[in-house]
Amino acid sequence: MDKELLKAAADKFGTPIYVYDLLKVFSQIERVRSVFEGVDHSIAFAMKANFNLDILRALNNMDLMIDCVSFGEYLQARKAGFSPSKAIINGNCKKQSDLKQYVCDGVFAINLDSYEELLRLEKIADRTVRVCIRVNPDVDARTDPHIATGLREHQFGVDYETATRMIERIRKNKLVELIGLHCHIGSQIVEIEPYQEALLSLRDFIDKTGLDIQVLNLGGGWGIDYGDGRSLDLEEYKQKIVPTLKDLSAKIIVELGRFIVGAAGYLVTKVEYVKKTRKKIFVIVDTGMTHLIRPALYDAKHRIIPLYDTSDRERNIVDVVGPACESSDVIRKAIEMPIPKEGDLLAIGETGAYGYSMASDYNLIPKPLEIIWDGQEFFRSS
Ligand code: LLP
Repeated sequence: MDKELLKAAADKFGTPIYVYDLLKVFSQIERVRSVFEGVDHSIAFAMKANFNLDILRALNNMDLMIDCVSFGEYLQARKAGFSPSKAIINGNCKKQSDLKQYVCDGVFAINLDSYEELLRLEKIADRTVRVCIRVNPDVDARTDPHIATGLREHQFGVDYETATRMIERIRKNKLVELIGLHCHIGSQIVEIEPYQEALLSLRDFIDKTGLDIQVLNLGGGWGIDYGDGRSLDLEEYKQKIVPTLKDLSAKIIVELGRFIVGAAGYLVTKVEYVKKTRKKIFVIVDTGMTHLIRPALYDAKHRIIPLYDTSDRERNIVDVVGPACESSDVIRKAIEMPIPKEGDLLAIGETGAYGYSMASDYNLIPKPLEIIWDGQEFFRSS
C-alpha cells in the first residue's frame, strides 16, 4: 500500500492504527483461485488470523467458507453473515454445548480432533452431522516450532491407526456422516516438500482403507514474504500438488488465514521519542507487544517502513520498542534504519494476520483502531 495513503490514514484517525487494504485481500483470493483452476475447490478463511467484521463480510460476499476454532469465532462468523452451511469447525477443545449448537445449526463439517471428541459428539447428536477426521501425518512443516502442528508430538489430530478406529466406529453410527479428511501441518510454510509429504501420506491412507471421501481439507499454512524474500511458491504448488489433487475426485478445501490477509495489513505507529543509552538507541513507539505480539512470541521479524522523509537522516542500528513494561516488548531488534524524530510515523508491514486478533489488554494499553481502505476511501471499522 502506498506510503502516502498510510500517512493519510494516520492523519485522519491518529495512531496507532491497523490499516487493512481490501483490494489486496481480494487479489490474494484471486491468486488462490488461480492455483486451483480446474479443481473442484473451496477456500475457507481461517478467521483466527483476523476476525474484523468488515473483512469477514467482504469475504462472505466473495463466497468464501469460514474456518472457526472456537464458539466465539463461530458467533462472529454468523454475525458477519456466514451461513452455518459455510462453517468448518476446527479446534482441539470443542465443548459439549458448542457441539450441540453446531449440530443443531447444520454446519458444513466438524473436524474431529480425537477419538474422544467422536464419543462426545455421538452423545449429543440428535440429527445428522457431517464430520471430517483431522489426521496428523507426522510431517515436519519446517517452520517455526511454535506454529508447526503436523508432528506426532503435537496435540492436534490423530494418527492413522486411531483414524481407522474412528472410521469403523462412524460406519456404525447413523447420525454421524464421515465426508472426508482434514490435515493442517503448520503455518508460515515456505517449502513445498512438507505439503507433498502430507498429501502423499493422506493419499496412501485413502488408498489403503478404500475410503470414499467427498472432501479433502488440506488446512492452511501458506507462507508469505515478511521481507526476507521467503514465501510459498504458488507455481511450484500448482505443478507439484495440484495434479495429485485432480486425481483424487474429491472437493478440495484450503483453510487459509495469513495468505489472504497478512500482507493486506499495516500497523501504523508514531515515534514518541528516541532514547539513546550508552549501549543502544531505542526508538520508542506508541505500539508494541499488546498490539502485535508476534515479535515477542515467535521472534518474528516484520518490515518497518519509515513514513517520513529519510533523505537527511543519519542511519544507525536501533531497537524499536513499545510502551509495555517488560523487555520483551520489542517490535524489531537491532535494525538499521534512518533515525526517526519524535512524531515521525512508521508502518509495520505484513500485520494483517495474527496482529489485532492476538492483541491483548495487557497494561491496559488501549487497542488500536482498525481502518479499512476499500480502494476509494478509508473508514473506521466496527
Ligand atoms: N487451519 C487450522 C486448523 C489452523 O490451525 C490454522 C492456523 C489455519 C488453518 C490457518 O493457518 P494460516 O493459513 O494462517 O497459516 N499465531 C501464529 C499462527 C498460528 C496459526 C494457527 N493455526 C502466527 O502469528 O504466526
